[in-house]
Amino acid sequence: MPPWTGAGLAVPRALVPMPDERHHAPMHVTAVQISDNLAEHLHDDEIHVWHVPYRRAEQRQLLRKVLAGYLAIDVADVLLVEGPHGRPALAEAHDSRLGFNWSHCAGDALIALGRQVCPGVDLEHLRDRPRLLDIAERFFTPAETAALRVLPEAARASAFLALWTAKEAILKATGRGIAFGLDRLEIALMQGKPALRWLDGEQVAEWQLVPLHVAPSLIAALAWRGDPRQVKLWRLASDGSTAHCLRPAG
Ligand SMILES: CC(C)(COP(=O)(O)OP(=O)(O)OC[C@H]1O[C@@H](n2cnc3c(N)ncnc32)[C@H](O)[C@@H]1OP(=O)(O)O)[C@@H](O)C(=O)NCCC(=O)NCCS
Repeated sequence: MPPWTGAGLAVPRALVPMPDERHHAPMHVTAVQISDNLAEHLHDDEIHVWHVPYRRAEQRQLLRKVLAGYLAIDVADVLLVEGPHGRPALAEAHDSRLGFNWSHCAGDALIALGRQVCPGVDLEHLRDRPRLLDIAERFFTPAETAALRVLPEAARASAFLALWTAKEAILKATGRGIAFGLDRLEIALMQGKPALRWLDGEQVAEWQLVPLHVAPSLIAALAWRGDPRQVKLWRLASDGSTAHCLRPAG
């Protein structure tokens, strides 16, 4: 059973689209009403992750829409600034307690939001990567590459992406991005689940790393510096009629 079929989970009324918009294509950006105050659903000890459709031409429109929903303001009033390494953040004029990050890959995007936290999220599509050991040799630590090498070939692509998304999620959470160096942190896969072993200049114990199982063909990870939090995944139902709270990967 896919993880997003978690029955009995509350569906905030604010996330339900307008009745006359229900026949639009599934997961179309403009088919969703994300206008009410979503902030009340986001508790201080939670991180919300939205799995949404992504169209390159729409750029940050949907990200802004979701942010506007959490800030309870008009989309046009969402002001973003960029950090020194390109990380977008809300301008100080807003409730600066809300931190966010997003990742987009082909038709999918993940948006992570939390209070008083800088989340980092990364998403990749699972596909054959014939040269993945070469890429690992070049960018990963020797221990990570060795761990990939001993895996059966059929398991390598997902393990590679589990490592890659974990590294990117952490580097995005720091705000430094991959220019910091993918080999300046080490991830171990414990029964397929990524665990941070080393991050140059940081205390590993202060970091949280959570794999996100949003769809069978997607590998994703979420990271933040701080105490553990409950992660709630949100996704529109395939008919666009409602939003579901998914069970995060454990
Ligand atoms: C951020 C980065 C990891 C993105 O990786 P990616 O897998 O290609 O893209 P993703 O879809 O996961 O993430 C893209 C989003 O990350 C965010 N982002 C950009 N720079 C970021 C940073 N330094 N930290 C955190 N998030 C960042 C942006 O919102 C961006 O999307 P947008 O511009 O459409 O809003 C990578 O581009 C990076 O490190 N950039 C920093 C600048 C840099 O190092 N440039 C040197 C290139 S050699």
